[in-house]
Amino acid sequence: MKKIMILSGAGLSAESGISTFRDHDGLWEKHDVMQVCSTQGWIENQKLVTTFYNERRAELEFKEPNSAHKILAQLENDYRGRFVHFTQNIDDLLERAGAKDIVHLHGTLTELRCEACTETFNVGYAPQLGKEQCPYCGNKRVRHNVVMFGETAPEYAHLYEAMRHCSLFIAIGTSGTVIDLVRIAKEFKHSILIDPKRQETKSQYDPKIYIDEYFEHFIEKKAGEAVDDMMAFIKEHMGT
Ligand code: APR
Repeated sequence: MKKIMILSGAGLSAESGISTFRDHDGLWEKHDVMQVCSTQGWIENQKLVTTFYNERRAELEFKEPNSAHKILAQLENDYRGRFVHFTQNIDDLLERAGAKDIVHLHGTLTELRCEACTETFNVGYAPQLGKEQCPYCGNKRVRHNVVMFGETAPEYAHLYEAMRHCSLFIAIGTSGTVIDLVRIAKEFKHSILIDPKRQETKSQYDPKIYIDEYFEHFIEKKAGEAVDDMMAFIKEHMGT
């Protein structure tokens, strides 16, 4: 059966005014990633990490889904059962655009997670002030529901499983620094990469220079500008 697998990253939300991580004005230019997004950083300075995610959460309240979020939410609806969308993004803009079944590989900003019972609960855009209590087990040890460097990401298993059942792979707005796009693209005869900038392959042993050389189609545009080209390739592949 023809089935679409989407993998999206920070670039998808860039046109909504949310910084990416590794572009010239990205978050990891302004913050030390190992201080604010690693297990070691969390052990050393929980206040700094919590403040970092409180700022991200507060900022998110005033951002709006862009045209790419909306098209992807529509695609999920149009191809229900033949479409799976994995995102590395922790924002809620896909859901605010109407998407229902997004798999958040790195967690969600609008939730906190209990460190005792591991349940998650919604806090909207409110800052974590340290008085929060797990509504399930009553424990006060709750934290941001974001996967940090040095932590396992349980949803990755679903990503690599889904690869085996999909016929078209679409990567949107991800540099391939954390999830190896080349490894995934090699498994697909049909694939589309959307990125306004060519990204170099991450492994020095890689015979090819650019990640897009492993894709069937490379749309060298911003996500919002790429949707029409993307839709044309999807219709051609899905036949409808
Ligand atoms: N449309 C599409 N792509 C864009 C746009 C845009 N408007 N603007 C930038 N991009 C591209 C960049 O060229 C880059 O390739 O989006 C990509 C963003 O890459 P990163 O900042 O590395 O973000 P991402 O790949 O999502 O990071 C993966 O790293 O820091 C961790 O957990 C964090 O989920 C994140 C993971």
